[in-house]
Amino acid sequence: MKDLRCPLCHHPLLQNVQGLACINRHQFDRAKEGYFNLLPVQNKHSREPGDAKEQLQARRQFLQAGFFHPLKKRLQELLPATTATLLDIGCGEGYFTAGFSDALPQAQVYGIDIAKAGVRLAAKAAKDKTGLLYSVASSFALPFADESMDVVTRIYAPSKDTELCRVIKPGGKLVIVTPGENHLLSLRTRIYEEVRPHSRPITPEGFVLDEHHCLSGDLRIKERDMCAALLEMTPFAWRLAPELRASILANELRDTLDFAISSYNKK
Ligand SMILES: C[S@@+](CC[C@H](N)C(=O)[O-])C[C@H]1O[C@@H](n2cnc3c(N)ncnc32)[C@H](O)[C@@H]1O
Ligand SMILES: [Zn+2]
Repeated sequence: MKDLRCPLCHHPLLQNVQGLACINRHQFDRAKEGYFNLLPVQNKHSREPGDAKEQLQARRQFLQAGFFHPLKKRLQELLPATTATLLDIGCGEGYFTAGFSDALPQAQVYGIDIAKAGVRLAAKAAKDKTGLLYSVASSFALPFADESMDVVTRIYAPSKDTELCRVIKPGGKLVIVTPGENHLLSLRTRIYEEVRPHSRPITPEGFVLDEHHCLSGDLRIKERDMCAALLEMTPFAWRLAPELRASILANELRDTLDFAISSYNKK
């Protein structure tokens, strides 16, 4: 566990019978699903921070159906085979995190999310897996040692540049996925009077851009419950008027998927 550090005093966390502890006896018990809660109350700004349980369950249902499989595959291909440690920031219910672990069976893969409901779902699905550990934590105060990660991934989640730079090894890699310009454009056009393009991420301090590309494809959803899951997991779709929502659910949904993938090297 040399990669983990105490969120309270920053000393290394070592394994004991109940879970993890630092030299100052800050104890973090292992939950029955196998994850750790490394989010100190002072970093918790609401009772249930992060995405809501219903949103995470919808995301699980939608992702498990394979709609984002091409993105998972592309990201797996981007990972250096020599990766020994990888951290997925804002891992949600763990679809991509588990995919990274599958692609790197020798590596230690970590997933963190501020939403306990997400980490719980992710850890449950990874119960019998080795080399994959989930924790409840904030991306603004990562419970990881300095220069402990070969790769950090961030898919549709927030982060703080200084924390990214601190935990990644010199020469290590950062991969950021954000919605591309045409992502769910048809749905956005039906909701907003004026559709504003998604902005391209700015290179975080301490990194140089290695490559930037977009991955796009058609999205066709015939099943009503899958359409409902997409609307539930997509925050802008919560603004839908009830009549519009009903009409979307009544028909086959056709739209565009467009992911912007940026890969950076730490200086
Ligand atoms: C759109 S979801 C993406 C989840 C996952 N990466 C995926 O693509 O399936 C964004 C995630 O970021 C998490 N999140 C939001 N703020 C966070 C923070 N400060 N620290 C860690 N996670 C955060 C949310 O709880 C949510 O699970
Ligand atoms: Zn401590």
